[in-house]
Amino acid sequence: MRDIRHLFLGCIMAVFAFSLLASGIVPTQANAQDAGSVAAEPEIDRTATGGATTLEDIMRRQQGLQVDNTYRSENVGDPSAAAGLSDQLGTLGGASDPDLWRGMRFNAAEITTQSRGPASNVLIQDRGMWWLQFREGPLLTYGGYLLLGTLGALALFFLLRGRVMIDGEKTGRRIERFKNFERFGHWLLAGSFILLGITGLISLMGRKFLIPTFGHESYAWLASVSKWVHNNVSWAFMLALVMVFVMWVVHNIPDKTDIKWIAKGGGLFGGGHPPAKKFNAGQKLIFWSVIVLGGSISISGLSLLFPFELPLFAKTFTLLNGTGLPEMMGFGILPETLTPHEEMQYAQLWHAIVSFVLMAIILAHIYIGSVGMEGAYDAMGTGMVEEQWAKEHHSLWVEEVKKRENKAPSGATPAE
Ligand code: HEM
Repeated sequence: MRDIRHLFLGCIMAVFAFSLLASGIVPTQANAQDAGSVAAEPEIDRTATGGATTLEDIMRRQQGLQVDNTYRSENVGDPSAAAGLSDQLGTLGGASDPDLWRGMRFNAAEITTQSRGPASNVLIQDRGMWWLQFREGPLLTYGGYLLLGTLGALALFFLLRGRVMIDGEKTGRRIERFKNFERFGHWLLAGSFILLGITGLISLMGRKFLIPTFGHESYAWLASVSKWVHNNVSWAFMLALVMVFVMWVVHNIPDKTDIKWIAKGGGLFGGGHPPAKKFNAGQKLIFWSVIVLGGSISISGLSLLFPFELPLFAKTFTLLNGTGLPEMMGFGILPETLTPHEEMQYAQLWHAIVSFVLMAIILAHIYIGSVGMEGAYDAMGTGMVEEQWAKEHHSLWVEEVKKRENKAPSGATPAE
């Protein structure tokens, strides 16, 4: 059962792991070996610093080159070199503070801490810089471009195509499209997602945009409210996700009507309205995006909500390595052991990138469900839609309803 669970988590994460790889943010062993070959460069002269780190070491590390660390890892103090306690300036041992910190970094110090927990045995984690830079740099920049680009594209589409109107004569009769329970599930999902999106963006944009604009004090308040809302509303989102899945999965199984619908671009090409059941192919795409990406955001969110308790990435990388795919695609072998902190870094990136993608998809959904199409909003607003709208956009579903209701749709009520 555990294996099946890991396999499931692994599959959902595999797609994303490949995009992390493609973007080059996961250091692979192949990358490390590349860097290792550069390390064969001339020895660095450290006499000026008495053997300690030089500017050249720092510059080489900043350029991503590997520096042979033995000058530090082997320099962790020698107790026998200590001056006698009775001597003037006698020391308590042969290790100085820097020796001790180096010992910690290279796992050579005998140290116990009073804090307990899954990550308490990691005192120094020095693989976080790339994450910090990626989070403040490309993640925010490209995520922002994606959302603004989507808004721009929707505005352009609206200008070019205008609102999709009901073509035929309205009948004045209305058909029940969604029951109260279904609408409750939808609005719980929508309301929680919007809150999570806004509060998530507030957390991500704090240091770069909000603190410089509003100052530390205002942001401190905003950040703590956002964090509280984000952590707690996440449960509503997960509940609604399960509700929506259970309520609508049967109507979202792909079938051959979808092929026709896609071929006609949902009615954009060739004129007329392609037939569709309760949900057309476009809506099925939205549904499955919400389920798969929303599920993935939920799993990585749980991992962030319970720090270090639900590590996902080392297992996923091991699973991927087992398939041989990363090597076949030239990425080398993915790191199979990660510090608890690295696990959290990957979970944060995954959570944020998948959220950006889903937010962009949902912007398009909100557009078509409101200003983009006449009559669509009623489906979720009141649960009742104009019969002519239903005939144009979901003709096969109307036939089904009519058959069920014995020809004339008894659910249809005259409009006031
Ligand atoms: C203000 C925001 C929103 C509006 C106005 C809106 C509107 C609608 C409407 C009118 C429908 C029914 C379409 C039909 O009758 O065929 C619908 C369906 C649906 N909505 Fe929303 N929605 C919003 C936000 C969201 C959010 C945030 C999510 C998910 C995170 C979501 C997920 C869904 C799903 C999965 C469906 C069923 C598939 C589909 O029709 O595309 N909605 N929405």
